[in-house]
Amino acid sequence: MMLIRPSISKDASSLALLSLEVWSATYLRRGINAFFADYALKKFSKPSFEAALCDPLEIFLVAERNKLLQGYIRLRLNSDCGLEDTGVAEIRTLYVRPPHHNRGIGKALLRAGLSTLEAGVHGRPWLAVNAQNKEAIGFYTTQGFERVGKRNFCIEDTRFLNYILSYAVSPTDACQKAMQDG
Ligand SMILES: CC(C)(COP(=O)(O)OP(=O)(O)OC[C@H]1O[C@@H](n2cnc3c(N)ncnc32)[C@H](O)[C@@H]1OP(=O)(O)O)[C@@H](O)C(=O)NCCC(=O)NCCS
Repeated sequence: MMLIRPSISKDASSLALLSLEVWSATYLRRGINAFFADYALKKFSKPSFEAALCDPLEIFLVAERNKLLQGYIRLRLNSDCGLEDTGVAEIRTLYVRPPHHNRGIGKALLRAGLSTLEAGVHGRPWLAVNAQNKEAIGFYTTQGFERVGKRNFCIEDTRFLNYILSYAVSPTDACQKAMQDG
């Protein structure tokens, strides 16, 4: 049975490896070069997750089966993207391992994340997604998010267009929907 639980410090290395796996499968479909490899190895290092797991503004929930991690969601509180239609809680990452896609894990993690935010006054959660990541945009749209803006994401001097999506339903409605969906 799948379990969703808050992360513990021991998850840092698993989160790092899972992130490298999902990020490279999503964004490096045509191959790997030093530019992207350097970025990914730095961003998804064990020390960077150890630091984030200690940060009181960060919330990590992991999906696991038989004590094996299959995905995670990372939320950041007090994160204002500066757009009118967004609140101050950001969904920073939602990653499910490719072999486990389309089994409801992403939806379950998203629901758990939205329920966690429901406990506080954070307004409409927002997220940034690469404009070319059609699968993720489709996923978030079916889950009640709408596009409210765009901005560039930079690796060194190279820019990548991101869309800003905001949850179109109030956190209270989201909680009710989650309960109806079971
Ligand atoms: C996006 C992601 C988290 C979804 O996780 P998942 O576990 O595969 O998704 P689920 O099985 O829970 O749900 C899939 C739902 O999204 C819908 N969906 C998926 N791709 C879609 C698309 N391209 N267009 C429309 N809907 C789509 C499915 O129809 C399904 O909804 P339904 O059950 O109501 O039919 C996962 O694919 C992933 O990790 N992708 C790579 C990383 C990434 O891009 N993350 C998001 C940006 S941070």
